[in-house]
Amino acid sequence: MAKPHAVCIPLPAQGHINPMLKLAKLLHFKGFCITFVHTEFNARRLLSSLDDLQSSNDFRFETISDGLPPTNERGILDLPELVTKIQVDGQRSFRDLVTKLNHASSSDHHVPAVSCIISDGVMGFTLQVAQEFGIPEMLFFTPSGCGMLGYLHYEDLVERGYFPLKDESQLSNGFLDTAIDWIPAMKGIRLKDLPTFLRTTDSDDTMFNYNLQAVNIAMKAQGVILNTFDELEQEVLDVIKTRFPNLYTIGPLSLLQHHLSATDYLDSIKANLWTEDEKCLDWLDKRPRQSVVYVNYGSLVIMTKEQLAEFAWGLADSKYPFLWVMRPNLVDGGEEIISSLNFMEETKDRALFLEWGPQEKILSHPSIGGFLTHCGWNSTLESICEGVPLICWPFFAEQQTNCFYLCNKWGFGMEIDTQVERDKVEKLVRELMEGDKGKEMREKSKEWKKKAEAATTLGGSSITNFDVLIKQLKQ
Ligand code: UDX
Repeated sequence: MAKPHAVCIPLPAQGHINPMLKLAKLLHFKGFCITFVHTEFNARRLLSSLDDLQSSNDFRFETISDGLPPTNERGILDLPELVTKIQVDGQRSFRDLVTKLNHASSSDHHVPAVSCIISDGVMGFTLQVAQEFGIPEMLFFTPSGCGMLGYLHYEDLVERGYFPLKDESQLSNGFLDTAIDWIPAMKGIRLKDLPTFLRTTDSDDTMFNYNLQAVNIAMKAQGVILNTFDELEQEVLDVIKTRFPNLYTIGPLSLLQHHLSATDYLDSIKANLWTEDEKCLDWLDKRPRQSVVYVNYGSLVIMTKEQLAEFAWGLADSKYPFLWVMRPNLVDGGEEIISSLNFMEETKDRALFLEWGPQEKILSHPSIGGFLTHCGWNSTLESICEGVPLICWPFFAEQQTNCFYLCNKWGFGMEIDTQVERDKVEKLVRELMEGDKGKEMREKSKEWKKKAEAATTLGGSSITNFDVLIKQLKQ
């Protein structure tokens, strides 16, 4: 009998590619043939590694057009431009790809016909193609459940007149502190804790409209997959299920991989957009237990040079050792700003900087005592998997919502203001590393780690849901 063939297509950003690749490997582990789809913008950056990987018939990479100009010098992804172009160019190119794959299957018995499509929750344009070919499609929303619930209420927030904003002053006059008491499972939430694409005065704003529509488009899919676990977000998930009854919560995916003994499975298949530097692990080996602050703002944050300086001096003044991943395009204005930072001299004996690191290995290292993060959902989950407490500096998208839950519901995060100040950074780092609140948060994150472990081991919610998902996809 022919193998089931899943075509997996993430939004072309690191925080979406990583979880989709994990899911694709798990599906392959369960007997699926995989076609993993990159878009040109990233494929150009991944080219050499993709060439190495083309050999396997069962796990192949394909590239579709995204309509974007060739990778810009700093590798910065322009999200509004991407979502505008990909709906047209990407859809056409994706249709051609599915046609090509099905054509190949009729002439080559090694290539089974496409039996399902797993598309990113915000790549809804793939649904039309799936329908044209009569192929079932599931959507994988890579952010948190609470983030998704925020997006689900965009329409209500618009209908009730909160957004678009009346004028720019609402961004700074306290309006965003308005508490909202009518969203179920979000008790205590304020407008500023909701996914940020609402914060515009322009009703034609691209990201505002794209996210407004995404959830409605998603209703047409056969089901929705989330990289979370029931115990963490039960109340939120119960609400989402009223709109999406076929909801599969199968996270954290890295623990699921671990418990299915699939951690090292297809280990050589990677999709890092920056070169991973492992030397930091030796550096960490030489540091005492729980002594190092890990600093990483994910793949999309671009901060000002003033913010960078405040973080840098706050960390320097805390006197703790720190490991800081500074992507070359982390700062508005360029790499030279990073290298010109004069605080580096002061901290050279206790700080290590790298462009991109093996984050999951770093977080699992016993020397790590805490994580200063932008609250991207992958970073949040990876911290749960290792029981690491957080200082939160949410930047955009649903990171603000993750931060709200981290600090107010899950109990292992402390927030730093957007207008970051060095004294506050220093104080919070000390609190995290040596204060009572830090201890409490560490205990709490360890409790969540145990619950995440339980969800992904035999009889747990995520592993059970994963089995159901596999059956569903094989049908
Ligand atoms: C974005 C959004 O931030 C996030 O909220 C959304 O849910 C998904 O897209 P990103 O900003 O890149 O992603 O952050 P995050 O979700 O944390 O994903 C980053 C990924 O890159 C993580 O899997 C992390 O382990 C990995 N990473 C990051 C590395 O492997 N090495 C690094 O040095 C930095």
